[in-house]
Amino acid sequence: MHGSVAWWFVVLCGGAALVVEGATVCTDRPVIGIIAQASSSKRHGDTFIPANYIKYLEQAGARVVPIRVRQTQQYYEQLFSKINGVLFPGGHVSIVSSDYSKTARIIYDLAVKANSEGEVFPLWGSCEGFQLMTYLSTGHRLLHSSEAYNVSLPLILQTGYETSRMLGGLTSQLTTILTSENVTPNFHHYGVSVETYNKSASLRHFFRVLSTNRDNKGKLFVSTAEAYKYPFYGTQWHPEKINFEWNPSLAINHGANGVLVSQYFANFFVNEARRSCHQFPSDREAGHLLIEKFFMNYWDGGSFKQIYYFNFTQPEGSHLVG
Ligand SMILES: *[C@@H]1O[C@H](CO)[C@@H](O)[C@H](O)[C@H]1NC(C)=O
Ligand SMILES: *[C@@H]1O[C@H](CO)[C@@H](O)[C@H](O)[C@H]1NC(C)=O
Ligand SMILES: *[C@@H]1O[C@H](CO)[C@@H](O)[C@H](O)[C@H]1NC(C)=O
Repeated sequence: MHGSVAWWFVVLCGGAALVVEGATVCTDRPVIGIIAQASSSKRHGDTFIPANYIKYLEQAGARVVPIRVRQTQQYYEQLFSKINGVLFPGGHVSIVSSDYSKTARIIYDLAVKANSEGEVFPLWGSCEGFQLMTYLSTGHRLLHSSEAYNVSLPLILQTGYETSRMLGGLTSQLTTILTSENVTPNFHHYGVSVETYNKSASLRHFFRVLSTNRDNKGKLFVSTAEAYKYPFYGTQWHPEKINFEWNPSLAINHGANGVLVSQYFANFFVNEARRSCHQFPSDREAGHLLIEKFFMNYWDGGSFKQIYYFNFTQPEGSHLVG
């Protein structure tokens, strides 16, 4: 489907007229890549992706392909030309030197180039994925200790959030939920503090802060941000956990309002991906790379109940279903 729907509308805001560019839909079959990262135990596979990220995107109408680490530039360029966005998941590997980070650097550079040339190619980072984006965009590791592990918080929205792309579509009901209920799950020991953000000119010029939160020590950290120039988005919290992680010992809000929050952010990002015109030459070719071709493992305990493992250093296809 290549019929474009473009619209512009004028919003009157405090007397000033702002021209907001509307969405241009390029595909209703978006495919989003998720980078696999090294697993701590190689027993099940050398890399993994928690299923929650996959289901999160699927709930908004996207399909998902895992992105392998340690591949050639050609592999990444070819895959990039076919997919409509990439999600950088959270995790526990180095944001500077890991295979995950090196792969993210290649994707990030391709995305910057594509967007600079007038294409739309969105990126999303959750938790460490967001931290990684702050490193990729500034070249500096700007993290500090930020203890907010296993706690769900209401967002402290920043002035003007309603003129952002990411939060501009919030209804008053969702705004109330987001700012008054414990709906955003945090599971981090590091973060980008507001103090660091204020001091880093490169980060300030790249990312606009849409919300902050206080860690266990009362220190403010950046909790939601979007890039000024590119369709790049980040949350220090985990919208993908809300509807898809069920360990009862985790502080995740499974109420109806939490569900709406997860769906809002998934819908937003997948809509951004619908604006990307990349496509697979055939649905059959997409099918060969989709996550559906891989086995999922289920555990009763732990942070993740469902995990996809891969042996991505082994020849492609050796671990496929069927
Ligand atoms: C990866 O390889 C290891 C060791 O050979 C094996 O035990 C594991 O089942 C493999 N995982 C997958 C997902 O194929
Ligand atoms: C960061 O900068 C903003 C805007 O100048 C200021 O209002 C805020 O107090 C600063 N916060 C910190 C923690 O430095
Ligand atoms: C996480 O937080 C919940 C709610 O505060 C608490 O009941 C649970 O024990 C905590 N779990 C862990 C693993 O710390």
